[in-house]
Amino acid sequence: MNSFNRDLTQRLEELHHQGLYRELRRIDSPQAPRIQLDGKPLLNFSSNDYLGLANEPALKNAAAEAIQRYGAGAGASRLICGSLACHHELDETLAAFKGTEAALSFSSGYAAAHGAIGALLGKDDVIVLDKLVHACIVDAARLSGAKMRVFAHNDLNDLEDILRWADARRSSSAHEHPVRILIVTESVFSMDGDLAPLKPIVELKENYGAWLMVDEAHGTGLYGPNRRGLAEALGVSDRIEVQMGTLGKALGSAGGFLSGSRPLIDYLVNRARSFIFSTAPVPAAAAAATAGARFTQSAEGERRCATLWRRVAQFCARTPQPPSSQPSAIIPLMVGDETRAMEIATALRQQEILIPAIRYPTVARGQARLRLTVTAAHTEEDVAKLQTVLKSTWTP
Ligand SMILES: Cc1ncc(COP(=O)(O)O)c(C=O)c1O
Repeated sequence: MNSFNRDLTQRLEELHHQGLYRELRRIDSPQAPRIQLDGKPLLNFSSNDYLGLANEPALKNAAAEAIQRYGAGAGASRLICGSLACHHELDETLAAFKGTEAALSFSSGYAAAHGAIGALLGKDDVIVLDKLVHACIVDAARLSGAKMRVFAHNDLNDLEDILRWADARRSSSAHEHPVRILIVTESVFSMDGDLAPLKPIVELKENYGAWLMVDEAHGTGLYGPNRRGLAEALGVSDRIEVQMGTLGKALGSAGGFLSGSRPLIDYLVNRARSFIFSTAPVPAAAAAATAGARFTQSAEGERRCATLWRRVAQFCARTPQPPSSQPSAIIPLMVGDETRAMEIATALRQQEILIPAIRYPTVARGQARLRLTVTAAHTEEDVAKLQTVLKSTWTP
């Protein structure tokens, strides 16, 4: 073995030793409550396909039609010659869905976060993150060069202390443009399933003249009268400068998006590097996402959402959760030790339940958990089976 491979092999052994080794599992079926893993049927409680749209005929037909009409690939970035009608239709559908002046789709949520943060901030600015925001936001914040400050998870006092500090920095700055301050949080936290106190965060950012970006990756399609997200449910959408969402979770396809004012979107087209320097998403993904957003807004979308919350309530009725004003489809079953979490996940798999262990670096060391997600496609019987199996496998 050469020295390159020897070095990597040693690092992999260390990951094994720490209970942090990861490997891909091959699924031989569509995304659904029942999947085939290594030829074995499993009841899947780990997907972000919250409304069961990933395998929905309306989305698959839209994707197939888009392939027939526009081909398999987009051919170039949107600003060169890849801005196909299906991408424009998606952007317009997303803006209407979110109730914002405009929206812009990206090839992934990861790319959307990078596009927004990198375009809006530079090294003289300040970015303020909730401790538990997704890695794509942390990476984008680092890359932007802005001064990064982190507030304790959902802690408004800590956030206000940092805003006071940032405001003072702005007052003493001699730069030609005022120091920009951007707060970024998720609405529904991806690994904890708890919700951000968006209303007081909006009030704080207004008091301190900051901007707010909210990642609704796990809120889009699930909250509010039009299922636009938690910001809609809390009545603060039009006070948030940048709303972010993903197309690969409740909306059933793939990609990410940013929505907000027309100047925001025009600026992103000019300055978001992950948008400018990347080939446009394939037509099939764009068309399926448009169909997913339309489905979500329909009466059937409303029914799916209601089914989801009934399944979540069924599960929570027998597995006590921390009190919350709004339910969440993400329910972490806390374990702590990484190796123990892996053992429980294996024991669940042996009983035909798939809930993978989530470990460092996705969550902090010693905070390993099983990230359970319930979807509208699960039946009452599926949830009952899960409860029975968990009883013998996991203790809170
Ligand atoms: C909170 C959050 N933001 C952003 C992303 C990235 O989205 P995508 O998977 O579309 O890149 C994810 C998940 O993958 C997420 O959980």
